[in-house]
Amino acid sequence: MIKIRVPATSANLGPGFDCLGLALDLWNEIAFEEAKRLKYRATGEGAEKLNKGSKNLLTKSYVRLFEICGKKMPGVHVAAKNDIPMSSGLGSSAAAIMAGLYGANEMLGKPLNNMELLKLATDMEGHPDNVAPALFGGLVVSAMNGDEIILRRFELPKWTVVIVKPDVEWLTKTARAVLPKSVSRADAIFNIGRASLVVEALRTGDLELLQKVMDDRIHQPYRLQHISGGTAAYKKACQFGAAALSGAGPSIITFVPPQKAEEAKKEIARGFEELGIMAKSIITSPGILGTHRI
Ligand code: HSE
Repeated sequence: MIKIRVPATSANLGPGFDCLGLALDLWNEIAFEEAKRLKYRATGEGAEKLNKGSKNLLTKSYVRLFEICGKKMPGVHVAAKNDIPMSSGLGSSAAAIMAGLYGANEMLGKPLNNMELLKLATDMEGHPDNVAPALFGGLVVSAMNGDEIILRRFELPKWTVVIVKPDVEWLTKTARAVLPKSVSRADAIFNIGRASLVVEALRTGDLELLQKVMDDRIHQPYRLQHISGGTAAYKKACQFGAAALSGAGPSIITFVPPQKAEEAKKEIARGFEELGIMAKSIITSPGILGTHRI
């Protein structure tokens, strides 16, 4: 039997649309054990939905890796203990893809290296911003050059991060469909400078700088208007620290001074609750580790 852990991730981080992603100290734990047939069982986040059948993103990725390696797949029992909320903007799909690929690769005695795993995961996810930090941990800046994924990983100092997830239905597919096909030069310039500065602020632990530059003009404004309570919660979050839509949303991620975390958590959630939307909050920090065996 092998057991692995896969972290949650927050992509975009404001202006870094599809290019920046950060691993968080919030995990799914998955055990794989050879068996007669494929069986999947989850506990925790999303269990009810995931346990309806044995086919899901994790098991599909597991099967895919065996196919790619040209190996016959023996049956397997997969047991997942999930702490990453689904459809939340915290990389639960990336975690499922990575868990399936990584688990299968370990079961096969590691025929693929990490960059090959990342390539496969990126092909399945469509962009590397969540899967790269899910695999490597830390803050990852990535760029596509044709088929090649160019990336650099940074370990961050200790940050306190508040995540507030409203109880709304918001699929990544919808979140991408509401975006314009092209952006103006002014908006591109607005984002390019800020994305570079977000990396510098995160690396150096500079909250004052992060607060000034974690703004975006190419995805957040289009998405927030469709997320009930999103704009109100985002505005509240900006009063406590540096805030952004986490990934495609609907969660809001806010980097705060540690002593303000509890208050921020309540107030940001109130932005949603004032509109009758329940919200769940988590206080966490960036994770240095990516997917690993335990
Ligand atoms: N960068 C992606 C987006 C993350 O914002 O759509 C979610 O898959």
